Amino acid sequence: MRQVSPAHAAASVQLPKAGRSPSAIWATMDEARQADVQWQQGRVAALVYLPGDDVVAVAKEAYLRFFSENGLSPRAFPSIDRFEREVVAMTAALLHGEHALGNITSGGTESIILALKIARDKARAEHPEITEPEIVLPETAHPAFNKGAHYLGLKAIRTPVGPDFQLDLDAYRDAVTDNTVLLVGSAPNYPFGMIDPISEMAEIAAERRISFHVDACVGGYFLPFLERLGTPITPFDFRVPGVTTISADLHKFGFAARGASVLLCRDADIYQYQGVRFTDWPSGIYSTPTLAGSRPGGAIAAGWAVMQYLGEEGYVRLTQQAMRAATRLQAGIRAIPGFQVFGEPVMSVFAFGSPERDMAAVAAGMEARGWFVHPQRRPPGIHVMLSPGHDAFIDTYLADLRAVVDLVDRGQIDGAGREAMYS
Ligand SMILES: Cc1ncc(COP(=O)(O)O)c(C=O)c1O
Repeated sequence: MRQVSPAHAAASVQLPKAGRSPSAIWATMDEARQADVQWQQGRVAALVYLPGDDVVAVAKEAYLRFFSENGLSPRAFPSIDRFEREVVAMTAALLHGEHALGNITSGGTESIILALKIARDKARAEHPEITEPEIVLPETAHPAFNKGAHYLGLKAIRTPVGPDFQLDLDAYRDAVTDNTVLLVGSAPNYPFGMIDPISEMAEIAAERRISFHVDACVGGYFLPFLERLGTPITPFDFRVPGVTTISADLHKFGFAARGASVLLCRDADIYQYQGVRFTDWPSGIYSTPTLAGSRPGGAIAAGWAVMQYLGEEGYVRLTQQAMRAATRLQAGIRAIPGFQVFGEPVMSVFAFGSPERDMAAVAAGMEARGWFVHPQRRPPGIHVMLSPGHDAFIDTYLADLRAVVDLVDRGQIDGAGREAMYS
């Protein structure tokens, strides 16, 4: 993994000598956000999720009410402890984890790193002969796995998908060695929004008595509701034997405040490897279930409040709305000659492109019209994660896409300045 250069070391700004007034601070902050993407106008399809103003208001109110509380101490804040337990219980029920245990983390990345730690420490206990532990994951799995593997001294081996963008199961199976401690699958993966063949993959793990993690960071609070809407969903949760841990992000399609994901372990036997307890210092027992020490009470409270506010019916309604946006956008994309949606996305997360066109030019054109473009590099395209609130902007997006493609075809836009996104 390459090091990233420090972002702020050279900044010339110093702490003001005298404090500034709140109004001066707000003015500076409002000015600072002038160049931010207009997410309120649906201009970015990821990063910010749009469940509707009412849901956001509930999340904000809950966050502010528990702004000062710290999830580090259940003894000091039984309220936060209760919210966390109930969020975990509700999530476990959604994902059919009858005996599941877990916690709220700061996000998908932390949940994934924690799952890697569980797998590593479980293997240390059960397979002490493994001295150079490896994990095997599809090439479509999130980079957080490589990041975590780097931190935890695990070797990450990525295996390819086929021309249909579905995992090549034989290549995946072949990558498993006597050193493998964890296999990974996604439900769905970020690049193509496709669910890996979790049952077959988890069977390989079960045969070898090693861990299997399902990254449902994107699908954990979406697929269960899509299933309730009658869409057949590839089995991906604890109903699949061999699945040991699952991550599901509250701050994505759970529609809670940023800084909240759930990591679930199938049972107590697996959960025992999650936390850390330390006593060898002058102060009290230090025991934490996740990577963080202090944890924002607000994020935990907001997760609980949004789940209570929406209920199953609310999530089903929002899932339906996001799928409506996805279906309309996909139909519009397919109607543009040469354009295709890659693979068979199961939810409102997918990528599209036109093999015959310079996608850097299309991206440049869309950005010039105020759309924030997430590039898809293999194959070249544009990636989107659509929220329910994006439904209102699909027509404008498609009109701009058609206009941009027309300009690209007439040679009036090129990819100047945008090539790096695709190189
Ligand atoms: C499938 C998947 N897993 C994990 C993550 C990481 O989540 P976070 O950004 O909350 O750390 C993402 C982020 O988009 C994702 O799409």
